[in-house]
Amino acid sequence: MAPRKSATAALVLALAGVLATAAGEDFSSNVDSSGNIALPRDFRTSMVHLGSWFVPEGGASGFHDVYTERASVEFYRANGRFPDGATLVKELRGADSADYTTGAGVSAASEQIKQWFVMVKDQQGRFPRNPLWGDGWGWALYKPDAPDQNLATDYKADCLGCHLPARATDLVYSHAYPTLTAVE
Ligand code: HEC
Repeated sequence: MAPRKSATAALVLALAGVLATAAGEDFSSNVDSSGNIALPRDFRTSMVHLGSWFVPEGGASGFHDVYTERASVEFYRANGRFPDGATLVKELRGADSADYTTGAGVSAASEQIKQWFVMVKDQQGRFPRNPLWGDGWGWALYKPDAPDQNLATDYKADCLGCHLPARATDLVYSHAYPTLTAVE
């Protein structure tokens, strides 16, 4: 009787583990069960380019290229908002300027990657005690010399203030992303 009981207990534990993993993966393949966010691998081909910014000067100068999942674009086009689990990646690259056949002083992204910012939509407040989650999003920052390490420690100090001007559009500067609008 005892062996059977422990076999049942092991099965229950195994099932619980499978269910917990499945719940995490249903939400986002870039987030583990503790709320740690990973930079999506090879996002330039696995995701869709939403749009770009050009910042003329300062530490963030250069091109800011923004990406999300194709399914998140389709959801946004249908519903006017990002779905639960949507991932936004912003890559910052330096800029080089030169004369081209299109004109003088033309800017192009350089090979220098400065950093990556990531936001993951969370409609359920899944990680209330994690300081990198809140206001409907998970927040992360990576640099090329440590792309596995989220350098943000507290989204309220590291991110939120600068995103408040976009509060009316869920803290995302979405007006600059033409991909979110279908081309007729
Ligand atoms: C100095 C102000 C500032 C800080 C700090 C900041 N952001 Fe942003 N962020 C912006 C602005 C402005 C944009 C859009 C324009 C641009 O990129 O220049 C933006 C765009 C983004 C985007 C693209 C999607 C969108 O919202 O339009 C992501 C993703 C992002 N930020 C994540 C973060 C995360 C995560 C942090 C904290 C680790 C952070 N940001 C900190 C100002 C900031």
